Parts: sequence; structure tokens; C-alpha cells
Amino acid sequence: MHAPVLLDEVIKALDLHEGDFAVDGTLGGGGHAKAMLRAIGRRGRLLGIDRDVHALARARETLEELRNVILIQDSYAELPAILAREKLPKADALLLDLGLSSDQLEASGRGFSFQRDEPLDMRFDTREGETAAAFIAKATVAELTRAFREYGEERSAEKFARAIVDARRREPIRTSGMLARIVERAAGGRGRIHPATKVFMALRIAVNRELDQLRTLIPSLRRVVKPGGRVAVITFHSVEDRVVKEGFRALAKEGAATILTKHVIRPTRAEVLANPRSRSAKLRSIQIL
Ligand SMILES: C[S@@+](CC[C@H](N)C(=O)[O-])C[C@H]1O[C@@H](n2cnc3c(N)ncnc32)[C@H](O)[C@@H]1O
Repeated sequence: MHAPVLLDEVIKALDLHEGDFAVDGTLGGGGHAKAMLRAIGRRGRLLGIDRDVHALARARETLEELRNVILIQDSYAELPAILAREKLPKADALLLDLGLSSDQLEASGRGFSFQRDEPLDMRFDTREGETAAAFIAKATVAELTRAFREYGEERSAEKFARAIVDARRREPIRTSGMLARIVERAAGGRGRIHPATKVFMALRIAVNRELDQLRTLIPSLRRVVKPGGRVAVITFHSVEDRVVKEGFRALAKEGAATILTKHVIRPTRAEVLANPRSRSAKLRSIQIL
């Protein structure tokens, strides 16, 4: 079960009121959305977006009361078009809780985790784009190196890229287990953190074009959230956090938003102890002008 990260901090940052229209752009299992629904009450409305159809199904169970909830399978990057198509007004608040949920990591059947042996797919939305296996099968050493370095900040990016290209000459890399073993062998064993951690994260970011989604949405946030409304974003690694920080700064510079978090908000020690997945979480928020 996925535990929502920085829950109290998110609810505070979104400053929700009874009757508000709130958007959860990364619905996941619906943990944050449930608390958002409580804050906006029966007169409020919630739009929940997720690229993963299985996440939407889980959220349907978590949310129970669905009368004032609209759920859509899409990318949050499409929010301006979704609001127009669904004839919805601009929102009072928007949450993005980026990355993947522990449900996806544990039992997606799509190879997000190096601890499982599953088909190497890694797409959130399996209706579009190419799988991680397809990407790995044709990418050059330079392309793999760039992805591991840029999205994973992996120091051994080139070594791992070469090992992958060598291995795929012998046999196609079809599963997460095969990939994990190739990287582990190239690294010369395991340390405290599995050597394939960053490679897996980088591949997922590449396959889902995760940074592009953020870079598309942030400049158009004024088309999604009304003046005075709040946007809160939780990131889980520095590459993503940098995109959010710079995107928010650019909005503030052009007079489109006020930055509410001069310093990022981090989980308390108690939360990290209770939910280790939260340890790298960072929350940033803005108010749209
Ligand atoms: C960390 S989880 C969200 C967990 C959720 N806040 C909760 O409390 O259960 C991130 C979710 O975002 C989804 N996701 C990732 N990129 C997305 C995108 N561009 N558009 C919509 N959903 C996305 C993933 O499928 C995943 O379900």
C-alpha cells in the first residue's frame, strides 16, 4: 500500500477550502486525493489524472465517494486541453506528486524494480511510446550514457552503457532481472545500494519522458490554475527538483506566480522512519497571480 508523502504539508500548501475545485495531476493510489476531498467537502470537486490505468483503478477504491470526482487517464502535461475538453474551470489548487508509487514498484508487472524479474516495459501508460526493452535494444552507447548521466546522475554511466550493449549482442535484454544482473556484474558486485538503482530510475524517466512533461506544464500553469490558486509539487530526485525550481523561478520572474517555499519542505524524521520512501522528497509550492 502506497503511503502519501508529506501529506499534512501538502494540504497546508494547497490551502483548500470548502467547495473548491482541486486537481491531483498524479493520482496514484489516491492517498493525497482522499485528504484533498475531505478538505473541499461535498460541495467541492476533484479531477484526478494518472497515466497508469491501474493506479486509477486503485484510486477508485481508495476514494470510495466518487460523486464529485472525475478520473482521467492522461498525462498532467495535457491539463490545459483536458480542462477545455471537459468544460472545467481553472482549478483552485493543483498537486503533482512525481515519480512512481510503491504499488507500481512492487507489483506492476512492468519491470520498474531491479528486485523483481518482470518484462522490461516501464511505461506508465502502456497505450503509447516504446518500452524500456525496446529503448535498450536500439540505443547507442552514447545515448544510454547520456540517459544514465542526465536522468540518473550515474557516475558509471558509460561503463554500464557499454556492458548493456555488449550483453545485448548475446541475447536481447527482456526483463528487469536480466538488466539488474548485467549492471551488477559491470559494477563488480553490490554495495549498500543496488548498483542498478540509478540506471532503473533513468530508464523510467527516459521512457516516460518525465522531464518533458514537467517542462510542458509549468510554463502553462496559468491556464490550469486560477489567480490566487496554489500549485504544490513533490519531487524525489535532484534532476526533477531542479526543473521544478527553475520553472517556478521563471514564472515568478515574469510575474505569473509567487514562490511560497523559499526553502524546500522536507519530511520530518518521524515520517522518514515510518515511510523510508519519503526520505528524498522535496515539496515546492507557488501561488498563481
Ligand atoms: C508518487 S505516485 C502518486 C501517489 C499519490 N499521490 C498517492 O497519494 O497515492 C505518482 C503517480 O504519478 C503517475 N504519473 C507519473 N507521471 C505522470 C504524468 N506525466 N501524468 C500523470 N500521471 C503521472 C504515476 O503513474 C503514479 O501513479
